[in-house]
Amino acid sequence: MCIADDTMDTKNPKSFMAAKLTARAAETSNMKNAQVFNIGYTPNEILIRTELERVTDDLADYVNLGLPRHIIIYGSKGSGKTLSALIMAKALRDTKAVPYFYINVRENPTSTKIYRNITRLFGKGHEVEEVRSKCDSLLSGKSLVILDEIDFLQDYDVLYHITRHTKANLILLTQKVYWYKNLNDESVKSSLQPDHIVFHEYSTEEIREILKMRAKEGLNEFDKESLGLLSALLVRDYRSDARIGIKALEILGRSNKWDEDSVTTALKQAYIEVEGETLKNLGDRDLLILAALIKNQDTNKAYSEVSASNHLLLRGVSKSTFFQSVNYLQNLGLVTLIKKKIGRYYTMESQILLSDESIVSGELRKRL
Ligand SMILES: Nc1ncnc2c1ncn2[C@@H]1O[C@H](COP(=O)(O)OP(=O)(O)OP(=O)(O)O)[C@@H](O)[C@H]1O
Ligand SMILES: [Mg+2]
Repeated sequence: MCIADDTMDTKNPKSFMAAKLTARAAETSNMKNAQVFNIGYTPNEILIRTELERVTDDLADYVNLGLPRHIIIYGSKGSGKTLSALIMAKALRDTKAVPYFYINVRENPTSTKIYRNITRLFGKGHEVEEVRSKCDSLLSGKSLVILDEIDFLQDYDVLYHITRHTKANLILLTQKVYWYKNLNDESVKSSLQPDHIVFHEYSTEEIREILKMRAKEGLNEFDKESLGLLSALLVRDYRSDARIGIKALEILGRSNKWDEDSVTTALKQAYIEVEGETLKNLGDRDLLILAALIKNQDTNKAYSEVSASNHLLLRGVSKSTFFQSVNYLQNLGLVTLIKKKIGRYYTMESQILLSDESIVSGELRKRL
């Protein structure tokens, strides 16, 4: 026997889809252009931060005189290093036909990978020597090489080689203020002789300006006053990280609700999305070690706890593996190590750079 069910939905798929499209369109009707909120999006207009004066002075001298003026840009997460370097490089390419090459070192951490990226010679059939000599010819005239997240570089051949054998101007980007100071290769340092440019953390006004430009480009409606609150909170609680601000703006723009509660909730959610992405990409062991560092500031204590743990990935882990992982976490900007004197001895203390540590336990719960 067949029982007819009145509640069963038997609409035809076309009208079902059409109804869905209309309903969703109403929900996203405030979005003028959703791409504007992607982190890698290059906006029509940017806020020219004061330090760009020096960057462009150096680049202008390089183009006019032909002598490289290598640059290291330091700045915290979301301070506009990548965007600024790319915008300036594109401007030079478009006005003076100076080509540029952009490589993310976190994704390409060896010199060989960087040469292969510059030359686009990825196949095994191309020996390193061939790749390097093609690289030399590509960089034999005025050109820019941007190495982003340079602190992930595992060997210094590429720095030595580009500075000694090509005419290219290097632009190195890093969050680590001590990266150059800790670089223990004098010959690389002497041929690099960079101009050190530190990007300050954005002020509330600067963040507000950036968000306003983004809102105008990406949204039909927004509330100016709320952008002020969003910027102030971002500066106070999230180290002026523009990535988080832009994500929060997207969330607010979608719902088109701009009251104080919505702003605070959007910021929290944006933080989890942006920082959660870094945590999601961590291996289980690195994540567990991060959790141990949150519990014990003293890295020796954290190590003792980790190596005595019952967890398969941690039990009996060697000190060098442990510190390799800590170093990696440091490179990702999740922790920083500080030398502390206790009595007659020195220990390394870790400081957690997460604005909200609970996202680590959240990620652990999801996985283990
Ligand atoms: N001066 C600015 N004008 C307009 N948009 C900006 C500006 N600075 C940063 N942004 C935007 O903020 C976001 C973060 O900037 P960017 O990725 O350049 O930061 P970063 O310093 O490279 O960060 P990270 O260290 O995480 O790589 C990007 O979406 C970028 O477009
Ligand atoms: Mg960047």
